[in-house]
Amino acid sequence: MQAKIEEILSSYGKGQDVLDYVASAAGKRLRPSLVFLTLDLCGGTRYQEAVDCAAGAELVHMASLVHDDIIDHSELRRGQMTVHRRFGTQAAVLAGDHLFAAAFYLFALSTNQRVSQVMTTVIQAMCAGEINQLFAPATEERDYLDYVHKKTACLIGGCCRLGAILSDLDNVEGRRLQEFGENIGFAFQLTDDVLDYRGVDEEMGKERGRDFAEKVWTLPTIRAFKRGLIPYNWFTRDFESIRTVLEDSGILDEVWQVAARYVQKAKWGLERFPDSISKAELRGLSDKLLARQS
Ligand code: IPE
Ligand code: IPE
Ligand code: MG
Ligand code: MG
Repeated sequence: MQAKIEEILSSYGKGQDVLDYVASAAGKRLRPSLVFLTLDLCGGTRYQEAVDCAAGAELVHMASLVHDDIIDHSELRRGQMTVHRRFGTQAAVLAGDHLFAAAFYLFALSTNQRVSQVMTTVIQAMCAGEINQLFAPATEERDYLDYVHKKTACLIGGCCRLGAILSDLDNVEGRRLQEFGENIGFAFQLTDDVLDYRGVDEEMGKERGRDFAEKVWTLPTIRAFKRGLIPYNWFTRDFESIRTVLEDSGILDEVWQVAARYVQKAKWGLERFPDSISKAELRGLSDKLLARQS
């Protein structure tokens, strides 16, 4: 899969340095792992097509991170300087576009048109989630969860759906697996939001406190504001004082518990599939999210 990513990103001429830089830092590879595990779970055998799709999914994710880091003014990603800090915003916009296009190319190789349909729908949702968060900050939980669904859960759900599509099981099973992935996605973003206040930069490979610095409302600040623990303009205070309120009030633990409920829901959704090694691995991967430090 890494070889596929490097191969597809090796035709950029003079701008090759930028793509080499992007390809050199791997993340946790959660999304491609889900494509392979759900393929196995469904008894699929089109492994080569799954490699293309898994690499495509990771490229979509990487593109969204390159662009997200511009939007969030982030300096560190996957343990290295962000692309826009290293090469400038113009190069980072173009590199992100290139990653998206490389992903479309890989999806289009599939003999099943549903692959491109599902993944382009996912990308539209991700963009909508990011734009909503930028222009209409959510101060209500309902709105916030809608943004999380769009910006994070849809892609993870889409990866799980790909496993079913590539196994020609796209209907009941496809929807069930998509829902499993979306629940994992909610849990993933909620733990990420807690780590933004609690995490350690070196472990996460990115800086904590970006949500605070960018005035982004997430579940911890939404709950603390609702309970009158922080003012509406909490972002004008210093990070440490807000972090202390969120920690001491138990809100960060509470949000972690909300994530745990999504993990539980995700695992219930797997129950209808027959027992197998991949099912056990998907359950294990779900539980591991709740132990994540990065
Ligand atoms: C980061 O995703 C963006 C979010 C959805 C919170 P990951 O934490 O999966 O990033 P990598 O791929 O491991 O770098
Ligand atoms: C996740 O948003 C990025 C996308 C889904 C595009 P965040 O801004 O919360 O993620 P990090 O903290 O930068 O990884
Ligand atoms: Mg962001
Ligand atoms: Mg960000």
